[in-house]
Amino acid sequence: MNVAVILAGGKGSRMGIIDMPKQFLEIYGKPVVIHTLESFDVNENIDAICVVCVKEWQNDLKVWLKEYDIRKVRWITDAGKTRQHSSLNALDAIKDSVSDDDIIVIHDAARPLVSQRIINDNIEKVKKYGACDTVIPAVDTIITSLDGEYIDSIPPRKEFYRGQTPQSFTYKIIRDSYDSYFSLPEDERPSMTDDCGLVLHGGKKIGLALGDRTNLKLTTMEDLLLIKSMIRANR
Ligand code: CTP
Ligand code: MG
Repeated sequence: MNVAVILAGGKGSRMGIIDMPKQFLEIYGKPVVIHTLESFDVNENIDAICVVCVKEWQNDLKVWLKEYDIRKVRWITDAGKTRQHSSLNALDAIKDSVSDDDIIVIHDAARPLVSQRIINDNIEKVKKYGACDTVIPAVDTIITSLDGEYIDSIPPRKEFYRGQTPQSFTYKIIRDSYDSYFSLPEDERPSMTDDCGLVLHGGKKIGLALGDRTNLKLTTMEDLLLIKSMIRANR
């Protein structure tokens, strides 16, 4: 079984809107999270979907699932205090229904433009490597600076990629990685911004799946304009 986990448990603080997390904003009359869910609902390789959702928005979510005829959502679970805690809540929600070899595709609700090709490529890459991250080659030269004032190095660009989502794993690999990370005392857990960081920390190999520059994450108002114009262009 292939399960998509859609992370819609964040507050969207960088958007600067106070009353609504960004994943619930409407684009052309449809909430961002629904744009995202539709991509997984129509994908023939996805069998079931778990949505991690801010508690106060779960009723709205249920109404939208009916309104937009999203059929594969089997679990809705609460947001965690960090992205990792939200992923962990999803793993706990699905645990009695999945086995070790099942594939878990974890995706940001805030990336509504994910393509069918990217989702399918993730599933293929998990079959090959056990774990994969969606990446695009860096087009800009990457500069490192530890103090934010002087350049320390300009490493070769071809070694650098930008991470997107989905990030996908066999259930066993992601479960074991989370169990060992959360078994550390809280002050000894290295800070992580994504699931692959945590799996890499657990010593597992992660293959690359090719993303797309259009698979933008809604982070700021500027991204909202870009995402709107891309959705309009594809209508
Ligand atoms: N997310 C989540 N649970 C959290 C934090 C984030 O499910 N505790 C989700 C967000 O809803 C988003 C994805 O993880 O779909 C990527 O996170 P990010 O872009 O950082 O979203 P937010 O944390 O909501 O935004 P910000 O960091 O600006 O507050
Ligand atoms: Mg965040």
